[in-house]
Amino acid sequence: MIQNSDKLLNKRILVTGGTAGLGAHLAIEIAKCGGIPIVLGRDQEKLNSLILQFESFNLALPQFHLFDLTELDQMTAFVDELNEVDGLILSAGVNDKTTVKFISSKKIDKIFDINFTAQVQLIQQLIKKKKFKKGASVLGISSLSAGYISATNSLYSASKSALEQFLKTLAIEHAPEIRVNIIRPGLLNSKMASAYDFSENIDEFINQVPMKRMGEFSDIHPLALMLLSDESSWMTGAVIPIDGGTSI
Ligand SMILES: NC(=O)c1ccc[n+]([C@@H]2O[C@H](COP(=O)([O-])OP(=O)(O)OC[C@H]3O[C@@H](n4cnc5c(N)ncnc54)[C@H](OP(=O)(O)O)[C@@H]3O)[C@@H](O)[C@H]2O)c1
Repeated sequence: MIQNSDKLLNKRILVTGGTAGLGAHLAIEIAKCGGIPIVLGRDQEKLNSLILQFESFNLALPQFHLFDLTELDQMTAFVDELNEVDGLILSAGVNDKTTVKFISSKKIDKIFDINFTAQVQLIQQLIKKKKFKKGASVLGISSLSAGYISATNSLYSASKSALEQFLKTLAIEHAPEIRVNIIRPGLLNSKMASAYDFSENIDEFINQVPMKRMGEFSDIHPLALMLLSDESSWMTGAVIPIDGGTSI
């Protein structure tokens, strides 16, 4: 078994959006640090591929639950059965770029239901049902877009800003029992990035990044693991960019 450290030894960490992309990467890294990821997602095929990755690293298979986080009944049933957790990563998220002119109620709901409302409801249920252990750490995955505006991204930017304000309020209300910190990644080499229409201007975009490249999931996990661990026990309410310097 590959175990890099015991930084998260036996810590149970719930990971929304854990079947794909950054969330899946973080679930593997949590396991490599001795933690116990509890993976949430919707897609069985993506989960199967994550399980193969766990097997390839000879890691104990994660606990997993597949349901749509925007379905409140399913979330409630899940939280009712959940044992206490030491941490939570909010990585589930979607984007659907559109100009202001073409915003519709359906698009607002699509983005806000998962990027904001579901995360608020999940945390509220975890608190009310006493599912956070004392000293638990919550990690919000926001985005550079929460503070750095670009055309066609208004709903995504607004949803991530809303999430950040909610999480900072949570940090105030629940210190010192629960710590809450936020990472703002810049553009990552990912499925979400490849959905953007960068075909003609990707070089131009990368040229504006002081570090001259897109980020990789491996650029995010060292800080994420630190924020989940007791190494960051005096950190709460922090909003930290990892964006190759784009937000300077
Ligand atoms: N990629 C980037 O460049 C970038 C940059 C900054 C911030 N971020 C943020 O980082 C996070 C992860 O991004 P990513 O690139 O890893 O995205 P991704 O590959 O598209 O993964 C998104 C995850 O969210 C889950 N999800 C979406 N809607 C859901 C719903 N209604 N119910 C339950 N799960 C749902 C997906 O599950 P299923 O696939 O099973 O449906 C998937 O596991 C997001 O919050 C994103 O906003 C990404």
